[in-house]
Amino acid sequence: MRALTPEILDFLAPEDPRAQRSRRDLARINGVMRQSAIMARALAACPAPRLLADLGGGDGRFLLRVAQRMAGRWPGVRAVILDRQDIVSEKTRAGFAALGWSCETLQGDIFETLPQIQPDIVTANLFLHHLDDAALRRLLNLVASRSRAFVACEPRRSAFALLGARLVFALGANDVTRHDAVASVQAGFRDLDLSLLWPKDRAWICRESGAFPFSQVFYALASSSEAIGHKNAL
Ligand SMILES: C[S@@+](CC[C@H](N)C(=O)[O-])C[C@H]1O[C@@H](n2cnc3c(N)ncnc32)[C@H](O)[C@@H]1O
Repeated sequence: MRALTPEILDFLAPEDPRAQRSRRDLARINGVMRQSAIMARALAACPAPRLLADLGGGDGRFLLRVAQRMAGRWPGVRAVILDRQDIVSEKTRAGFAALGWSCETLQGDIFETLPQIQPDIVTANLFLHHLDDAALRRLLNLVASRSRAFVACEPRRSAFALLGARLVFALGANDVTRHDAVASVQAGFRDLDLSLLWPKDRAWICRESGAFPFSQVFYALASSSEAIGHKNAL
């Protein structure tokens, strides 16, 4: 069973030094988890988007890593980072611009901001696990009604991932990150958790699996889209 515990980072102001340190830890943890590589591999099966929305995208550094992997085949994408906090730095924005992508932010609760846009592709990295199953079902319905492809990279709810979360102190992670890493795994996903919450009322190609070392990946592509080798996406 998923166990949801509030994450400390969600309650800290953006300028709080503990929050800033934890965001830096998060960038390092994303690297150890291979999140941008896993996300890019799944995205490679999707047709090039004009508008890509990253849910709970935080400081945008994760999406920038993904953009660095995708920009060669997807030029000129308009990326929108949706988050409660508007914390994308000038340096990160410049990173997108250097790739020929634009980067915008949409600040607020996801249920208020997502209905304002119509993205071709929606991504979520280490975000969905913040929501309980009822809210997730609502969010996934919203995503399915507004886009043609969705990829999520989330913590895997496994003993191995829990061990990894308990060892983040070895990366120099602060108290916020050490707490939130364990909470994230306990609220994470396994088996077909996300597939079972995805709406059934339209034809979608869906895949869900574990991804080495600590992640769970879910991918949904509207079956009318021109999938590119989607069988190898995960
Ligand atoms: C664990 S962080 C992940 C950030 C980013 N995806 C990354 O990989 O670095 C989760 C993010 O979700 C945001 N968040 C949590 N609940 C939210 C909500 N209901 N609406 C919008 N953003 C939310 C938080 O502000 C935080 O930036």
